[in-house]
Amino acid sequence: MSAVDRSRLVRCIAITNGKGGVGKTTTTTHLAGLLGLAGMRVLVVDLDPQGNVGEDLGYNAAGLSDDGRALARAMMDDEPPTVLEGVRENVDVLPGGERLDELVAVLDARRRKGDTEAPLALARVLAATPEPYDFVLLDCPPGEPQIQELAMAAARWVVIPYKSDESSRKGLNRVATRIQAAWALNPDLELLGVFLYGTSKGATQIRARARAAIQAVLGENAPLLNTVIRHLEAPAVDIRDRGQLAHELERDVETGPAWYERLRSGVPGPRGPATTAGSLAGDFRDLAQELFALLVAREEEAEAEEATAR
Ligand SMILES: Nc1ncnc2c1ncn2[C@@H]1O[C@H](COP(=O)(O)OP(=O)(O)O)[C@@H](O)[C@H]1O
Ligand SMILES: [Mg+2]
Repeated sequence: MSAVDRSRLVRCIAITNGKGGVGKTTTTTHLAGLLGLAGMRVLVVDLDPQGNVGEDLGYNAAGLSDDGRALARAMMDDEPPTVLEGVRENVDVLPGGERLDELVAVLDARRRKGDTEAPLALARVLAATPEPYDFVLLDCPPGEPQIQELAMAAARWVVIPYKSDESSRKGLNRVATRIQAAWALNPDLELLGVFLYGTSKGATQIRARARAAIQAVLGENAPLLNTVIRHLEAPAVDIRDRGQLAHELERDVETGPAWYERLRSGVPGPRGPATTAGSLAGDFRDLAQELFALLVAREEEAEAEEATAR
């Protein structure tokens, strides 16, 4: 089969960690929403059979998810994918869900027949979207090795949310192994950054320990970002329940009735979004800015290296 044209994948970023519940999906949806607001065209690919992206972005509740059917179909039949358009400003989505399980069986069969390029199925599909995107964000499942492999064969960059616990460290090991394994088909794949998720901001000791663990697995130069996403359970629950992102909830907090107005009205009424939504929104804005700056710097470095090699 022909090589993949990777021109549409230069800003394809896999958000991954070999562990569940570390903030991969919440990170993906917020980066997408914020990049979209900044005027960039974004495609989110939900590679998780759980389909949580559709909860954060609200299209599951709106009945718009196809449970991963279009995504699985495109990969099985090597066809251009049909995306769910305009989920947010400048954001399209390829929904995930249980249909992705069928895909795993098909990929297994291909591999058993000796098709060494089976893991490139996603890269091919994303290289052939009806229109180009500035960013393609891959929300990875924690397990599902075949799907992880698809993501690693398609992405140019890897971003890892990291919780400072033992199992997160094991998850990191798994990512490191997968990146190396992917180089045979995707030699440009690189780690863009690791950041602490769900810890308190000023926790110097946690940060020092995390840095040591990250460097032990990913090497001395592993980029640990300055941004920390704080543990803020109330807005996190609101995001998933309401299908709204932290910065959208923040706006509702600001424009909705104040607590004393609610109190005076004497009617219990529906609860407003958690007032800490703004803090979480701020953390994600910091993350988006830091990652974008890092990405541009790394791209410039790579270009300079290429120029000297020429
Ligand atoms: N900043 C946060 N603080 C507290 N809980 C959070 C935060 N972000 C997400 N959560 C919650 O943690 C759980 C896992 O988050 P999720 O983004 O789905 O992780 P993953 O995709 O790695 O499984 C979800 O229930 C989510 O609502
Ligand atoms: Mg997830």
